[in-house]
Amino acid sequence: MNDRSKEQQPSRKLTIAIDGPAGAGKSTIASRLARKLGYVNLESGAMYRALALKAIDKDASFDDEATLVKLAQNARIQLEPTIGGNRTLLDGRDVSARIRERDVSEGASRVSIHPKVREWMVARQRELGAGGGVVMEGRDIGTEVFPDADLKIFLDADPVVREQRRMAQQKIKGDVSANVAAELRERDHRDRTRAASPLVAAKDAVVINSSALSEDEVLAQVEELVQKKIGAEEK
Ligand code: DC
Repeated sequence: MNDRSKEQQPSRKLTIAIDGPAGAGKSTIASRLARKLGYVNLESGAMYRALALKAIDKDASFDDEATLVKLAQNARIQLEPTIGGNRTLLDGRDVSARIRERDVSEGASRVSIHPKVREWMVARQRELGAGGGVVMEGRDIGTEVFPDADLKIFLDADPVVREQRRMAQQKIKGDVSANVAAELRERDHRDRTRAASPLVAAKDAVVINSSALSEDEVLAQVEELVQKKIGAEEK
């Protein structure tokens, strides 16, 4: 292939997995990266959150796996990437703001421990990302959903830094009453110690600790990894 025809070949659209704990900065980095690359940004956590909200609305217990699977099967959960951010629709209703509230955050962490709930979610997430050109973020994207992802990032940050970031976010939302630090620690513990697909860095993930980095610095590191990957493929 000569250089000219090489230039005319559009790069293959990559599948990029970004995993990590809450407050590490995954959402911001994933959406900024997707925008830059012209990719779709899919927040897998929003799907667990939508299911938790459905359980709350239907008065179902977060511990009742069989009912949760049925609710999931009958739910229409849509992730809609928009220029202003991602929208999440549950049965046609825009629940983007509601699913960020504290009861749903706790519920999402609790419904996600169930293997059959995860099975259903993982199958949907694979369908959504099947065409490539996607930056999917979550807890098990590099380990479970797309173990063959082209690039896997595990974005971490020290617990104190993550707690401070979450507290600042709550403050912006006007909710200063919450014990954000304790809730985050509890959620973290549950996500890391559950039996089914616990939060863990894939063996071939690049670990970035964002504690002392600005968003721009993290994004620059991730973009460099993407360019390396694209460059290696085009050689
Ligand atoms: O990323 P998030 O904070 O919106 O995720 C909410 C919860 O969903 C999180 O506590 C664990 C669960 N989750 C998961 O188990 N697997 C994923 N891929 C994404 C989220």
